[in-house]
Amino acid sequence: MDALDPFQGFQRTQYCSEVSESDLGKEVRLVGWVHRRRDHGGVIFVDLRDREGTVQAVFNPQFSPESHQKADALRNEFVIGVKGVVSKRPEGMTNPKLKTGTLEVMATELAVFNRSKVLPFNLDEDLEVDEAIRLRYRYLDLRRPSMAANFALRHKVSKITRDYFDGHGFYEIETPFLTRSTPEGARDYLVPSRITPGNFYALPQSPQLLKQILMIAGMDRYFQIARCFRDEDLRADRQPEFTQVDLEMSFVDEDQLIEIIEGWIARLFEELMDKKVTRPFPRMSYADAIEAYGVDNPDTRYGLRMKDLTEAVKESEFQVFRQVIEQGGVVKALRFPEGARLSRRELDNLDGMAKDWGAGGLIWAKCTADGIQSPIAKFLSAEIVGTTVEQMNAQEGDLLLMMAGPGDEVNPWMGRLRAELAHAYEMIDPSEFAFTWILDFPLFERDKEGEITSMHHPFTAPREEDLPLLDEDPEACRSLAYDLVLNGTEIGGGSIRNHQVDTQKKILSILGISEAETDEKFGFLLDALSYGAPPHGGIAFGLDRLVMILAGAKSLREVIAFPKTQKASCLLTQSPGPVDAEQLRELHVRTVLPRKPASN
Ligand code: AMO
Repeated sequence: MDALDPFQGFQRTQYCSEVSESDLGKEVRLVGWVHRRRDHGGVIFVDLRDREGTVQAVFNPQFSPESHQKADALRNEFVIGVKGVVSKRPEGMTNPKLKTGTLEVMATELAVFNRSKVLPFNLDEDLEVDEAIRLRYRYLDLRRPSMAANFALRHKVSKITRDYFDGHGFYEIETPFLTRSTPEGARDYLVPSRITPGNFYALPQSPQLLKQILMIAGMDRYFQIARCFRDEDLRADRQPEFTQVDLEMSFVDEDQLIEIIEGWIARLFEELMDKKVTRPFPRMSYADAIEAYGVDNPDTRYGLRMKDLTEAVKESEFQVFRQVIEQGGVVKALRFPEGARLSRRELDNLDGMAKDWGAGGLIWAKCTADGIQSPIAKFLSAEIVGTTVEQMNAQEGDLLLMMAGPGDEVNPWMGRLRAELAHAYEMIDPSEFAFTWILDFPLFERDKEGEITSMHHPFTAPREEDLPLLDEDPEACRSLAYDLVLNGTEIGGGSIRNHQVDTQKKILSILGISEAETDEKFGFLLDALSYGAPPHGGIAFGLDRLVMILAGAKSLREVIAFPKTQKASCLLTQSPGPVDAEQLRELHVRTVLPRKPASN
């Protein structure tokens, strides 16, 4: 043994999971962690684990008394080296769930590199562990094979992405973190400047402006796996710090860009999921998505499409319908095939859920052999029932669910109801991946305060034929934006941009941004646009979201190594945390705390 060898001659010959039939009878050297140790009547079995998987090591006193004796002291998560001979497991002792399940390593030597305290939680996959504990001890959590698999997948997604875009002539170019605000609709994370007192950098919400500047700089095709920062309310599919596959192209139209993206997605699915995706992906206008699905990120793996019954029921005796319709509202309905089997209690639950969202209520109608059965049946004439049944294409045994109210409220409620029904009544095939491009978005929308804002961001171009609407009726103006939706999650969004400075200025002024503010915030972009900006467009994908879906995970936190909690804190490093008064003084920052600090 080499005295300088820190691994005492245990340099591994392969990863644990790579022990195979071809090694039978040979000596292997393996290193890793004790996943589990079992003592069966004097023979000690250790599941030895590394990043790639596990293999069973057997410490038999007859085979090697010395290593058997040492193995007695092993505990979970000790770091060890094992030398041994690969042999077949005895009949009846095989484990079909394990890649190495027919084999074992008969240990001849054992080295203990490190010990471990008793773990705060068990690393067994089938045990539910409180997420706060998992995040606090993330280094242990990441040792679990399923987590390692998620990061292997994430790595491969990045690698295929780089290769694909490289193959299509894109340059990977980094853009700074310390920059100016890019308006993507969230709050900025700010970094105080020590050198220029009172001034702040903003961490980028996306590389949007700089990637456009790279097009103006003649780079033609740019991409970046870029970190973005947004201070917004968090959900399972939102992190304050996330990663985009961000790209921009010059001299490109919507169709060319969509084709490049579909090629990339198809490559990912073929190489990683062994699945052929059907191209071109279906396309749907924003208006159609809202009309039929209530939302602009429809999950098209299941039906339950909505129909507008406003016209059909406007003459009914049912006061709620009449009032809503008189006030310009709508009545929307969806057909739940064979839903007439739902009990009164299930229907009441659905109604309660809709009321929790703020809806007036949910009206149901069962289609039975004796006609429509519904709390409002007595208000509906035979004619109205006839038209409704026909429009909804309702069959005996179906259930119709209806809501009435202002269109911009009823649509999202019905969209939510649709998703709830599909999940609750298992209408989703989990092996299906349904892509939809959403196109023809409005350029502007009204925010909660009724102010006009960009539906995507202010740099999105209007459709050529809608340009006159910028002056006449900006809210009717459609944009050249596109989102890609996968199984009901928006995985990417982008647009063709304003490369003409006048159009860009007009849009900023419609958004109510004064000339002074425009100069201050976007002067550099407007300047650049006036020096020969090529027509250009791009898109950005949520890499974390994409990996989450590919991994079949329920939260972004399963595919981000060190994610933040719902309260935007990191439980491992305990950030954010306080800083020294001296650091604040250097940064010319004074803090004013709320009277009652928000509880953590
Ligand atoms: P957008 O804001 O739509 O577009 O972002 C692009 C994609 O990024 C993902 N995403 C997120 N993922 C996790 N956590 C978040 N907080 C989060 N926010 C967004 C989504 C989304 O589709 N500059 C434009 C793109 C462009 O126009 O080229 C932009 O950032 O999957």
